[in-house]
Amino acid sequence: MNESRSTATASEIRDLFDRIAPVYDQLNNWLSLGQHWVWKLMAIKWSCVGSGSICLDLCCGSGDLAQLLARQVGVTGRVYGVDFSPAQLAIAKARVSQLYPPLPISWVEADALNLPFEDNYFDGATMGYGLRNVTDIPLCLREIYRTLKPGAKAAILDFNRPQQLPMRAFQEWYLENIVVPRAKALGLTEEYAYIAPSLERFPTGSQQVGLALKAGFASATHYPIAAGMMGVLVVSKA
Ligand SMILES: C[S@@+](CC[C@H](N)C(=O)[O-])C[C@H]1O[C@@H](n2cnc3c(N)ncnc32)[C@H](O)[C@@H]1O
Repeated sequence: MNESRSTATASEIRDLFDRIAPVYDQLNNWLSLGQHWVWKLMAIKWSCVGSGSICLDLCCGSGDLAQLLARQVGVTGRVYGVDFSPAQLAIAKARVSQLYPPLPISWVEADALNLPFEDNYFDGATMGYGLRNVTDIPLCLREIYRTLKPGAKAAILDFNRPQQLPMRAFQEWYLENIVVPRAKALGLTEEYAYIAPSLERFPTGSQQVGLALKAGFASATHYPIAAGMMGVLVVSKA
């Protein structure tokens, strides 16, 4: 089995994220007890972007990481929030349209495996819970590598399988007994039952480091966070 490939097709994945779009933010906040905001801020810190940076938020979904990133780069910078789910992007756009002053974000409907940006374009990139969902992880990493400027970094946040057995058991219990029933109450059992198998297939932190180096990155480090239940892969281009 190729561990870096998802078994679902890209259109199945896009349809799934279109369907869950109306409840995605609510479930994210509830299921992480708001902690996903902290993990997203950590990813931004690791991406080392600053005022005036031109940044990519890949697989942006409903756009909360892109919004945080936009605040970090300020009015002289720009964030490109990229996703292939029209329903997620519609929510992302609606959320920022109510903000004043407006945030410097451009929403782009595109495939993370074939980015519509030239080489060496971005000063930094983030991705939250996207890498586990793309159908070809090595290709996605190569696209991030291609579009980053030399010296730039990307920080990729996703679930992680804890090394320690008690935490691993807790994570399995939580997904099965909290996440799936909560999603079931919203009529989305199948849509959220995909998380556990997708996590099983997802490369471990050290495998992600190996894939990133193979994609061309000069350095790659995987940081387990949240007692090892989440992880941030930080990569830099020479
Ligand atoms: C779990 S959501 C994460 C959303 C957001 N980044 C967050 O942290 O909450 C994963 C997102 O990846 C998007 N996605 C998956 N595969 C993609 C691809 N090949 N190209 C673009 N977007 C993709 C989905 O549409 C979905 O919005």
